[in-house]
Amino acid sequence: MGATLHQPLNNLDQWDDFVEGRYREGRSKEEFRVYDAQAQPGVAEFYRLNHENQTVDYVLGKEREYFSLNKGKKTIWEAAEFLNTLVDDSDPDTDLTQIEHLLQTSEAMRRDSQPRWMILTGFLHDLGKCLCLYGEPQWGVVGDTFPVGCAWSEEIVYPEYFYPAPADPATGVPTRPGNPDRNVPEYQTKYGIYEPNCGLENVHMSFGHDGYIAEVMKRYLRTEALYMLRFHSFYPWHRHGAYDHLANSQDRAMLPWVLKFNQYDLYSKGHTKPDVKALKPWYDDLFAEFLPERVAW
Ligand SMILES: [Fe+2]
Ligand SMILES: [Fe+2]
Repeated sequence: MGATLHQPLNNLDQWDDFVEGRYREGRSKEEFRVYDAQAQPGVAEFYRLNHENQTVDYVLGKEREYFSLNKGKKTIWEAAEFLNTLVDDSDPDTDLTQIEHLLQTSEAMRRDSQPRWMILTGFLHDLGKCLCLYGEPQWGVVGDTFPVGCAWSEEIVYPEYFYPAPADPATGVPTRPGNPDRNVPEYQTKYGIYEPNCGLENVHMSFGHDGYIAEVMKRYLRTEALYMLRFHSFYPWHRHGAYDHLANSQDRAMLPWVLKFNQYDLYSKGHTKPDVKALKPWYDDLFAEFLPERVAW
C-alpha cells in the first residue's frame, strides 16, 4: 500500500529536478527564476508554504518530535523499502524509485572510487524522506534548508515569500501572510538567537529530511558524512556562501566535502535503473561495516 502525494509538487523528485535545473551549467539566477515561475508554478507554491511555515516554534517542535528517534528500529533495507512505499504521481516508466535514486547516487561515487563511508552516505542521504510517510507535508520534508531564528538571507530561493504581500489584482496573485517570525525582533537580526561563528551544528535549520537522517546516523558516521547528510540541501551556504557569519572553522573545513557530495546528488541521475538485486550483497557488506543491523528512526 502506498501513500499518495498531491500538490503543490506532483512528487518529491520534482523538487530535486528543480534544484538540478537551477544549478545547471551556465544558467544565471535571473534566467532560472523566469524559467521557474512560468514552467513550474507548483514549485513556487511549494516554496511559499515552506517559507511561511518554517518558524522557530515549528522547527523546535519537530526536533522534539523526531530527534528522540522513537519511531522504531529498522535495518537500512527495511528503511529503504519503507521509503519506496511513497508512491507519487510520476510516470513509473521514466522515473526512478526512491531506492533507485539512492543507488544511482552511491553507485556514481563507487565508480569514481570514493571512500566507502562516502558511498554509504550516498545511499543513506535521502532516507529521511520517510518523514512524508509519518504525515509530514512536502514543504516540511524537502526544499532548500536555512537557519531559523536569525535574519533570512537573500540567497534563499524566493526570499520574498518570508514577507507579507497584498493581493495583486493584475495577476491574480493572492495575499501572502509571510513568516510570523518576522514579527519577532530578536529573530530578525544578523545573528538572531546565535553567537557569531557558533558553528552550524549549533544552528536550528529549517526542518526536513536532511536534519532527520543526520540525527539517525550521528552515532555511527564520521563528521564529513554527517555534514553531507545534515547540510546537503543548505544551498544558501554551500552554493552561495551565505551564513558564513554563523560558521566556524570546522564548517569551513567540511564545506568541500558537502560540495563534493552535491555533485553526485544533483548530477548522477541517469536513465539506467540500477539492478537492486544484483547490488544488494555488496551493500549488505557496506552497511555491516559501519552500522549495526538495525538503527533507531
Ligand atoms: Fe536530499
Ligand atoms: Fe538526493
